[in-house]
Amino acid sequence: MAQIQGILFDAYGTLFDVHSVVEAGRALTDDPQTLSLTWRQKQLEYTWLRALMGRYEDFWQVTQAALRYALRRLGLRASEAEFARLMEAYLSLRAFPEAKAALERLRGTPLAILSNGSPRMLAAAAASSGLAGVFAHVLSVDAVKTYKPSPKVYELGVQAMGAPAGQLLFVSANAWDVAGAKAFGYQVCWCNRANAPMEELGVAPDVTVGGLDEIPALVRRASAGSA
Ligand code: 2OP
Repeated sequence: MAQIQGILFDAYGTLFDVHSVVEAGRALTDDPQTLSLTWRQKQLEYTWLRALMGRYEDFWQVTQAALRYALRRLGLRASEAEFARLMEAYLSLRAFPEAKAALERLRGTPLAILSNGSPRMLAAAAASSGLAGVFAHVLSVDAVKTYKPSPKVYELGVQAMGAPAGQLLFVSANAWDVAGAKAFGYQVCWCNRANAPMEELGVAPDVTVGGLDEIPALVRRASAGSA
């Protein structure tokens, strides 16, 4: 990898564990895992569809619509209070266990979040997970009113960091986001915790790690290599 001037992190699934909403789903179903997976998959599909349709609604609204669909699809009923409790779980997601220490070891390199999340959702999740203080920028797609993998979204990172995409590292656990960021021009690190196969989209990450804790050593090696 070339010298790295800054690192951009995807939020959901990369820093914050979206399946930590499973606990909140337990009140409605004895299979909260399936509710969580269906909700997340539909949430992503709606971002892609809304981006293609040119009909942006923010990530809070998309997440609400995805939850309504997931509940209907699984034949589950939720009172208004239960629905609100599930949505609120999104404001207090847990960070992945290795995230905090890894980010602290990256101090000295400018760090940012670049996410589909609305500004309010990102601020809440960063605060509740204890990660807020380490980021120079928390960038939301809301600034360009579309969703990843639109190049307009990835461009936000370049503008905020003030460096070319090829000198920035983009980190995501979502393989489709890895493909989008690589197609845009970033150096890309895939945080492949689940050992999943890469998408067949004609692009590959520059490096793959099993957790965020492997990134500080990568950045040190990149700096040493180009010194
Ligand atoms: C994010 O933008 C894609 O969920 C992902 O945070």
